[in-house]
Amino acid sequence: MEFVRLDGERLTLVFALEVGGGADLVYLGARLPAGEDLAMIAAATAHGRHESQPDVPPVPGLLPEGKAGWSGTPAVRLSERHEDTCFLCATDFRLAAWEHYPTELVLTFYDEMLGVDIEQNWWLGPSGMICTEASINNGGGRRLVLDRLSALALPLPRRFTHLTSFSGRWAGEMREATRPIAPEGFARTSVAGKPGFAGGNWLIFEDPASGEVLGAHLAWSGDHDTRIDPDMVGSADGRAVLQMGASWDGGEVDLAHEGGYRTPVAMVALAADRSALAQVFHTHARAILPNREAWPPRKVHLNSWEALGFNLSEAGLMRLAEDAAALGIERFVLDDGWFGGRRDDTTSLGDWFVSPDIFPNGLGPLIARVHELGMDFGLWVEPEMVSPDSDLYRAHPDWCLHTEGRERPTMRGQLALDMARAEVRDYLFERLDALLREHAIAYLKWDHNRDLFPSGPGQTEGFYALLDALRAAHPQVEIESCSSGGGRIDYGTLSRCTRVWPSDNNDAIERLRIIPAWSQFLPLEVLGSHVGPSPNPITGRRLAMDFRAKVAMFGHMGVEADPARMTDKERECLGQHIALYKAWRSVLHAGDLHRLAHPDPEVTAMMVVHEGKALALAAQTAFSPVFDAAPLRLAGLEPDARYRVTLPEPWPPRAQHYLAAPERWRGDLTLSGTALMTQGLALPLTHPETAWLIALERLPE
Ligand code: GLA
Repeated sequence: MEFVRLDGERLTLVFALEVGGGADLVYLGARLPAGEDLAMIAAATAHGRHESQPDVPPVPGLLPEGKAGWSGTPAVRLSERHEDTCFLCATDFRLAAWEHYPTELVLTFYDEMLGVDIEQNWWLGPSGMICTEASINNGGGRRLVLDRLSALALPLPRRFTHLTSFSGRWAGEMREATRPIAPEGFARTSVAGKPGFAGGNWLIFEDPASGEVLGAHLAWSGDHDTRIDPDMVGSADGRAVLQMGASWDGGEVDLAHEGGYRTPVAMVALAADRSALAQVFHTHARAILPNREAWPPRKVHLNSWEALGFNLSEAGLMRLAEDAAALGIERFVLDDGWFGGRRDDTTSLGDWFVSPDIFPNGLGPLIARVHELGMDFGLWVEPEMVSPDSDLYRAHPDWCLHTEGRERPTMRGQLALDMARAEVRDYLFERLDALLREHAIAYLKWDHNRDLFPSGPGQTEGFYALLDALRAAHPQVEIESCSSGGGRIDYGTLSRCTRVWPSDNNDAIERLRIIPAWSQFLPLEVLGSHVGPSPNPITGRRLAMDFRAKVAMFGHMGVEADPARMTDKERECLGQHIALYKAWRSVLHAGDLHRLAHPDPEVTAMMVVHEGKALALAAQTAFSPVFDAAPLRLAGLEPDARYRVTLPEPWPPRAQHYLAAPERWRGDLTLSGTALMTQGLALPLTHPETAWLIALERLPE
């Protein structure tokens, strides 16, 4: 048995490796001192044999298999075809070799009888993100079919006893629930051809005693299989094993023909608390987002969807653009309804030609007007879909995913194109490329509104191939990933996009749940965050503009409402917040995000700290049980530094009357980081729809 370690700045992983045997992770935690005897670490946590175990107790390790009596899900499952039957293979992978680099470990496992090897790569990414992927290669000439291969199999340190997972639905993404890891384990899969609203590709484990957390994610935009098997039967130490990988339908990954398969990357982050965890994810995201360091400030969008819906006309859009510019909007986005005969959602997906009914002279005049008004122009597309009522479908009825001889059930009146087919991708590339060449389009909102049923092999790879080809041809175009809101959000899309649409639900109260949940993993600059109409078209709730606008500032801000239907006061208030967003986006989009705790569960608060400046949001959604809310304690500040505290105006209309000495909050208050983080600031947070911004500036010493 040999022991090797991978060290990040703050963490260490210790692997136990036995050539001819298995590989295991015997330590995952705070960085160990240089001279630590790694064999002792393993010895200190080893267990003796107990009753009712196989004679040689199985160790699931980094490549769990059922071979020695481990009762959980195997990380690899292979079947073999014999004439017209298919049998499950009994696998026996043994560690054949390993290579150790400063921040990377490559493990090669080999099943001699099958002639198959599996290579597992473990490496540390930016800010200490632990990344793994696996690949399998069939060198034995057998007719093998791959049923599953986990990108990650991680024996969880026993101190992580609690699990936070997410569930959700359309317009209600990322609902968080925390509970002990149950003896029966945990399993989540998606079958829609994308991660889906239910967020099964994101997990957080917690040690409740210390608050330490471990976050996990699979960077894959297709279906996933996530499971936790606490082994109650066979293994030596009862550890739960977390596995994450892509999932697919039986027979799709045929190793006889393809020879090999590579998993997507899975990632795991370790941190002292939730805020620190978010920062590890954000640093990693900022490193993989395309060309992130060269991004200009994130422009304020106005999106036509909740402003006009399908009610589009050139004159109406020009009027909307003028109203948008008057508010300080910087990018005008034409959403659904601009192409083919698309006057509602039953028709024309696939016909990516500008509709002459709405734009008799093409998009040119509208774009010219948008430019004249000082904004750039963005466009909505949904390339992977086709409406049965479309010229594309009439010409190529076989281009959609379907089963010969079966019905073709629609969803939102549409079918999905088979993205594995080169001619489908070629057609879409030709159309999108032509649109981008013929028009000055700065941004595409790339939507995906139908689940894949039936599915087919190669859909996610086809999506990536089209997106990558288009990005290569038009590197300056920003692309947002939308899937009826947050149906396809993962680090696979994030490495190709500049923005995601977290939810179709723009209701600010819902957003106060949805944005903190996504921002656990994604930095604010990629989270589209729009001021919607009141009443909100999805929830029906009416909310004051001051509240909607303050909440929308914590993200990539936009407006998705018609300014013509706002009162003068609302427009003024919105304009003021757009100006505030512009003043603060360099902090919000580059800094460290901290989640702020408050004793009132109806108060949501967070802050971003960057280079001595910080902006916090504190929002009350209910009627507080006490009149004077507890002070809000800040975080992430330098304890000894002094900060000037102000409450950026406009102030929430009702709550401002309860401020003691309002003048103090206009620049007359200076406090140490320690005072701000320990005692905090008493703000009126009594009434629903109250939101405060708190600005901090570090004073020179
Ligand atoms: C989806 C998107 C929305 C909007 C509509 C247009 O639902 O999530 O934001 O673009 O499509 O049809």
